[in-house]
Amino acid sequence: MRVLGIETSCDETGVAVYAGGQGLLAHAVYTQIAIHARYGGVVPELASRDHVRKTLPMIRQVLEEAGLSAGDIDGVAFTAGPGLIGALMVGAAIGRSLAWAWGVPAIGVHHMEGHLLAPLLEDPAPEFPFVALLVSGGHTQLIDVAGIGRYRLLAESLDDAAGEAFDKTAKILDLPYPGGPELARLAETGDPDRFRFPRPMTDRPGLDFSFSGLKTFTVNTLRSELAAGADPVRTRADVARAFEEAVVDTLTIKCRRAVRQTGHRRLVLAGGVSANRRLRRRMDEMMAEEGGQTYYPRPSLCTDNGAMIAYAGWQRLSAGQAEPLAFRPKARWAMETLPPI
Ligand code: KG4
Ligand code: ZN
Repeated sequence: MRVLGIETSCDETGVAVYAGGQGLLAHAVYTQIAIHARYGGVVPELASRDHVRKTLPMIRQVLEEAGLSAGDIDGVAFTAGPGLIGALMVGAAIGRSLAWAWGVPAIGVHHMEGHLLAPLLEDPAPEFPFVALLVSGGHTQLIDVAGIGRYRLLAESLDDAAGEAFDKTAKILDLPYPGGPELARLAETGDPDRFRFPRPMTDRPGLDFSFSGLKTFTVNTLRSELAAGADPVRTRADVARAFEEAVVDTLTIKCRRAVRQTGHRRLVLAGGVSANRRLRRRMDEMMAEEGGQTYYPRPSLCTDNGAMIAYAGWQRLSAGQAEPLAFRPKARWAMETLPPI
């Protein structure tokens, strides 16, 4: 079965074709960074309008790259939520309409399930069960994954998501949007020993996260250092490093606890922040100590993309699940409500 996947939940248009037995046939991502950069963050209406412009031409491009025509597609998957409602509606309307026109089934994919399953596109793919750490711009969740659609939420962030914390802290450091990767780059040049930031909620039992306090800590550290005459360039880099160390350390401590608690020996990292190199390295070391293994997608499949949507859609369409013609994209959507396959 060949499935066309369409992702338009935020500021990336992603299109891909996944085929059972063959894998990913083609995929393309267009990022709207240039459109939103001057506003310092995503402007929802501009995002929707750009998805309208890009989605159909990208579908044509991806089909051409895969050497396929419309008649070769057996199903269409589109992101149905969670995300920006206008942006979601673009991909969902295009995806559902194409499926109707082509006479094939369609499926609305949960964006975070797409992220969660992206590591299954890699070789070796993790076997079930595993613990998943989902770290994106909107979500930070630890999930006990027994199979596709068999998700038990172990923990989440009580305030900012990890990616959101990266982005907000990057803004404090005067870095351009999107802040996460920029902050990570600056942190490479920072001194890890100059500042020590707190590891929130690690001094008590439990798996939940809280990242909003780190923002305040960053503001206060920066302000007092600069007031005391510290070199601003060095200080920004050292603060970036201290912030990244704190987030990575906190996530690693909680993942170790989750792995011990569930008894699973596999840890899957997914979502935009899982592209972070220090996070991957630290998790690899931790899982080696625990006698297990870490799995994560290639960096281009960590951030938003169409391949993960095509793959998750292929799994569900292959199991006979499909969407009726009348569907409703969901800005909010709990992953635990998804049906198992
Ligand atoms: O999964 P994603 O592409 O979109 C959402 O579903 O939110 O995640 C985007 C988030 C942003 O907050 C971005 O700053 C962060 O992932 N991110 C990173 C890195 N690459 C992307 N954060 C830290 N280090 C990175 N290398
Ligand atoms: Zn995402």
